[in-house]
Amino acid sequence: MDNGLFITFEGIDGCGKSTQIKLLTGYLDEKGRDYLLVREPGGTVIGEKIRSILLDKENYEMSPAAELLLFEAARAQIVEEKIRPAVEAGKVVICDRFYDSTFAYQGVARDLGEDVVISLNDIATSGLAPDITFLLDLSVKDAFARRQGRGEADDRMELLGLEFQEKVRNGYLKAADKFGRIKVVDACRTPEEIFADIKAAVEERF
Ligand code: TMP
Repeated sequence: MDNGLFITFEGIDGCGKSTQIKLLTGYLDEKGRDYLLVREPGGTVIGEKIRSILLDKENYEMSPAAELLLFEAARAQIVEEKIRPAVEAGKVVICDRFYDSTFAYQGVARDLGEDVVISLNDIATSGLAPDITFLLDLSVKDAFARRQGRGEADDRMELLGLEFQEKVRNGYLKAADKFGRIKVVDACRTPEEIFADIKAAVEERF
């Protein structure tokens, strides 16, 4: 049986995660590797309900602590229901965002405290950590331009604006300094160039 591999993708809104995840799943299909693709918040019936509460623009009164705990609640569910069983069954699990998002968005940008978030992340995951995390790093200006190009309406988090996104980016770079499993990938290049780095790092693990 293959060993499981848990891969997460992180970055500010508009950093190009979806494109890279599509390239990675295409590569795994070619190699015939079994994988599970999930996203956070969401990925389970309960988690998708929590996601709609978190991203609903009408919920502008949500307190930062309520926001933090809802992200962690969705995470506890997906780890127990989907991620841990799949990794234990030898699958590659790809998660579009995981707990470094909480470190950057709630811990740093919302200023709820890095150590508080690290402790809650540990409770929500019962200690399950990604094997590799790709942080797609891009300037806030470039990421905003990409989001504009997509023409989608902003959700509650995206409505927090560019200054907030700048804090999130700094939060991510702080996480990368702290946690060796995070690989910072320069996302200001073509999708193919970016994917070459990701593919090389994944191949090293096989
Ligand atoms: P998505 O648009 O990439 O699916 O992510 C939803 C939004 O939620 C995005 O703006 C990032 C934010 N988020 C947090 O603030 N904290 C978290 O822990 C997670 C997983 C996402």
